[in-house]
Amino acid sequence: MPNDSLTLTVRPLASALGAEISGVDLSRSLDDAAFKAIHDVWLKHQVILFRDQSLSEDQQIAFAERFGELQPVRTTPGLYKKNPYVLMVTNVVIDGQKGALPDGEMQFHSDQCYYENPAMATMLFGIEVPPSGGDTLFSSATAVYESLPAATKARLEGLQALNVYDYGNGATIKSDKIDENAPKFVHPVVRTHPETGRKGLYVNRLMTHHILGLPPAESEALLEDLFLQIEQPQFVYGHKWRVGDLVMWDNRCTLHARTDFDPGTRRMMRRVTVKGDRPS
Ligand code: OGA
Ligand code: MN
Repeated sequence: MPNDSLTLTVRPLASALGAEISGVDLSRSLDDAAFKAIHDVWLKHQVILFRDQSLSEDQQIAFAERFGELQPVRTTPGLYKKNPYVLMVTNVVIDGQKGALPDGEMQFHSDQCYYENPAMATMLFGIEVPPSGGDTLFSSATAVYESLPAATKARLEGLQALNVYDYGNGATIKSDKIDENAPKFVHPVVRTHPETGRKGLYVNRLMTHHILGLPPAESEALLEDLFLQIEQPQFVYGHKWRVGDLVMWDNRCTLHARTDFDPGTRRMMRRVTVKGDRPS
């Protein structure tokens, strides 16, 4: 189906976030009106899903580029040498090369929160999907923030936290001690989305180490409180993958996690990220 004369159908996936968009073939070019319609749905629903897509690497990149300048892979350069913008998130060895984040559960996080300028958006295209598990869970950081009592919001005002990427564990498990060479950056605990103006939590169980200026026990207790809120089912959409799914999320206002799956089964996602601003 050509993308001119496009009629988008939008179906919310969960109450807090997520929408499936149908009626679009992402392998074809989108005119500005069609792209704007998709972009609007993305800003509103924070995570968008397109099913039954058939996308080459170049076609996926062309779609991602509509959202902004692409972010070359930084943590594992050379892992997938064909294209500097593509990271294979997979437990399958491709041309003798291992993939990134191969298997195992991953706790909630926002991509690249350990850099000064974290990715604005991440998209995964499902190429191989395990028979069970390996779901990607999304939580709305804005919905969680908005649900907090006024006293908690006041307490969070102006706080900053250190976010760290633990190389040793391939970023799937949090470590207790900070590797001095690990990428790390201090960001506000609450950030304001530059396009929607909504405030959202910007701390996460996988990579936020501590809140600055608080006694360690207090920082830990406050973070644990926030992490438990992020994990409340009413704020979460759990995505069960099908081959041909393209899912794109906004790292400025969502967190995502992955459920465990049998490492003996194959899972392969092609990932492209879009550059973002410094959170504020
Ligand atoms: C990622 C990520 C989760 C998944 O690619 O940033 O967190 O489900 N992936 O593989
Ligand atoms: Mn991630």
